[in-house]
This record gives sequence, C-alpha cells and structure tokens, in this order.
Amino acid sequence: MKELKNLIIMGPPGAGKGTQSEKIVEELNIPHISTGDMFREAMIQGTELGKMAQQYINEGKLVPDDVTIALVKERLSRPDCANGYLLDGFPRTLYQADALDELLKEINRPVDKVLNIDVDKEALINRISGRRVCPKCGNSYHISYKKPHKDGICDACEGVLIQRKDDTPESLKVRLDAYENQTKPLINYYQSKNLLASIDGLQDIEKVFSDILLVLKGDAR
Ligand code: AP5
Ligand code: MG
Ligand code: ZN
Repeated sequence: MKELKNLIIMGPPGAGKGTQSEKIVEELNIPHISTGDMFREAMIQGTELGKMAQQYINEGKLVPDDVTIALVKERLSRPDCANGYLLDGFPRTLYQADALDELLKEINRPVDKVLNIDVDKEALINRISGRRVCPKCGNSYHISYKKPHKDGICDACEGVLIQRKDDTPESLKVRLDAYENQTKPLINYYQSKNLLASIDGLQDIEKVFSDILLVLKGDAR
C-alpha cells in the first residue's frame, strides 16, 4: 500500500486533534501544521498577524479566510513539506478547502486522507474545561485524562500551566457554532472525494491513536 503522508486531521474544538497530531507526526516524520498554534505563536511574539488574529481567537470566531490561507501557503512552500504534512485545524471553511486544493496542486502533493475525529458535545465541554496548556513550550494536558507529573507544572519545561483564553464557556459556545455552521460541511466535501476516514474519538488517547494507525498503515478505512 502507498504510504499515506499528505494528511488532514479535523474535528470539533477539543476533539483531540492536537493530542493525536503530536503522535502522528512523530510516527511518520512529517511536519505538524496547526493554524491555531501558528496564530498563538504570533500572538505571543506580538507580531502584526498576532495582534490581528487575537481579536478573533479570544472570542472564538474564525480568523478571516484570506489571512489564514496566506499563512498556510507560506508554510506549505517550505522544504520540510516535501515529504508530506499533517494539517490540523485547516481547512475550516469550504472556501479554505478549495484554496487548499489549489495550493496542493502547486506543490504536487494532493491530500491522501482526511482523519475526522468524532466526539460528542458533552465530552468536548469536559475536555476543553479540563485542558491546561504550557505558555512556554505549548504542551497540552488535562486535569483528569493527561495529568502532568506535578500539579499545574509542565513536565517538559516546568512552565506554570494556564487555561487558553478561548477555553471559557462563552468563547467555546462561539467555537462550537463556528464548527457546526462553517466546518462540519467539510465532512461531506471530503467524503464525496472519497478521502474521509472517521475515527471514534471518545475512546482513550492510545486507542484513538491505534485506530488512526490502522487507517494510515492497515487497509485504508
Ligand atoms: P485551534 O487551535 O485549531 O482550536 P480548536 O479547533 O478549537 O481545537 P482545540 O485545539 O481546542 O482542540 P483539539 O482538537 O486540538 O484538542 P486537544 O488535543 O487539545 O483554533 C483556535 C482558534 O484559532 C480558532 O477558534 C480560530 O479563531 C483560529 N483558527 C485556527 N485555524 C483557523 C482556520 N483554519 N481558519 C480560521 N480561523 C482559524 O484536546 C483537548 C483536551 O482533551 C486536552 O486537554 C487533551 O489532553 C484532552 N484529550 C484529548 N484526547 C483525549 C481522549 N481521547 N480522551 C480524553 N481526553 C482527551
Ligand atoms: Mg488543537
Ligand atoms: Zn512547557
């Protein structure tokens, strides 16, 4: 079977995209391209992009398509994507999906598989409210499901863990609405292209990962 290395991971906020992405990129040795992480990095650095994105992100709204597409275009053009890529949190609108098709034609790496992490709303709220992140290195934890060794302290760099600004109940509501209205239609979009593989995201972290590996390395879907 052909190696599947041109990948998209999608799913609602808190589904576990970032958690699974870390494991997938280590396994396949491809870059993890998370638009959310790139925006948060720009916010920390205080760049123009960061200042602009901040207003949208903290309220839970999507950053405008043209800005996001330009960011991904630049990232995909770097040499480390020559061996594949894992896109996390992009595309998020049908407009972005069409633009991505064009970008991928340019680099001659069309999508091999779209991993759709399926999780119900109740679990999402639980996962988001218990998430803690390290502002220094970006590592992510959960107060029940992925505890750091020392309470409130990052295992990797000893940073003091915080909650993401958009993990408040108000912002989460806006993010869930954006997912329902703008991102969920992509499920049909990729299904009709025969690229979609849905994964049961309600299982524990290791089981979700082994199901993903089955899709990527076993008989596809
Ligand atoms: P982004 O950073 O992409 O956020 P999101 O889609 O809301 O998803 P999250 O990162 O919150 O969740 P996740 O699925 O990665 O879950 P995680 O692995 O952390 O985007 C943020 C914002 O940036 C957007 O709202 C928007 O404003 C902007 N943006 C980004 N991309 C954009 C785009 N393309 N266009 C426009 N705007 C864009 O897991 C969550 C928690 O659950 C963790 O604590 C984890 O430990 C735990 N957990 C994970 N898996 C499991 C499991 N199996 N069992 C139990 N717990 C688990
Ligand atoms: Mg994430
Ligand atoms: Zn850290």
